Amino acid sequence: VRHLTTQDFLSTLEVFPSIDSTNKYLLERVHNPDFSGSVVSAEMQTSGRGRRGRVWESPFASNLYLSIGWTTNEGIASLEGLSLAIGVGIAEAVESLGIAGNQLKWPNDILNQNRKLAGVLIEIGGDLAGDCNFVVGIGLNVQMQQLDGEKIDQPWTDLSTLAKEQSITLPGRNRVLSILLNHLLPIIANYSHTGLQPYIDRWQQRNWTANQAVTISGGASSVSGVNLGITESGALQLIVDGDVRNFNGGELSLRVK
Ligand code: ATP
Ligand code: BTN
Repeated sequence: VRHLTTQDFLSTLEVFPSIDSTNKYLLERVHNPDFSGSVVSAEMQTSGRGRRGRVWESPFASNLYLSIGWTTNEGIASLEGLSLAIGVGIAEAVESLGIAGNQLKWPNDILNQNRKLAGVLIEIGGDLAGDCNFVVGIGLNVQMQQLDGEKIDQPWTDLSTLAKEQSITLPGRNRVLSILLNHLLPIIANYSHTGLQPYIDRWQQRNWTANQAVTISGGASSVSGVNLGITESGALQLIVDGDVRNFNGGELSLRVK
């Protein structure tokens, strides 16, 4: 199978000064063939969204907010584990800037020394067994202002803080966007052939809380165990009371016990 590149995937790139949510915009349009293989980014979002109705703080300028959209006729099963592969791609793009210490928090966060640097939100529309529409949304903090950061209710960081801490010179934000896309678009374009397999070790190397006691929760229930990392289908594996158990599904949250 030929290895597909950025050029094979990308049809259009739209940049908005302000938008409600790049994910919302693309999810409403990606069924239209003109939008398959498109990237949308914005300088700010007025309703940036995280998982389960949470807010993604999206102040004007200096951070990256982008969505990548496409259609497939292979159903959602062909994209199992994609959010984990995307996490690897973001971490490797950030590392290519010279920034070390990235951690992947199952299922969808990129941390650096326990502070949230980026998040991934995948949204799906259409017929889940056949023709379906995919939108991968990424928020990557580049230079958050202090006042905006104060609205975030968990530890966070941005590339400019990390560059200072690690004595690195960052390229401009638009260059960071192109580096990011050159890491992510080939992952997406080839994913229905590769699946998660090429990304498993690369994910495990960055597993936040590897071999530590964690709690995984969804709705009202929670389970505690030791974090062994991901399985070949992208489930999180924990040792719970001496038994190995796999946890699937995008609605779960991981915390340090
Ligand atoms: P989990 O995904 O494990 O449930 P989470 O608490 O990070 O963890 P998400 O829905 O993934 O939840 O992300 C939304 C959360 O991210 C917000 O509730 C907020 O704590 C945090 N957040 C919001 N905006 C930003 C930002 N720009 N940078 C870093 N973190 C942010
Ligand atoms: C998360 O950690 O919950 C995921 C956050 C995803 C944020 C990005 S910013 C671009 C795109 N548009 C949105 O409204 N959300 C995603």
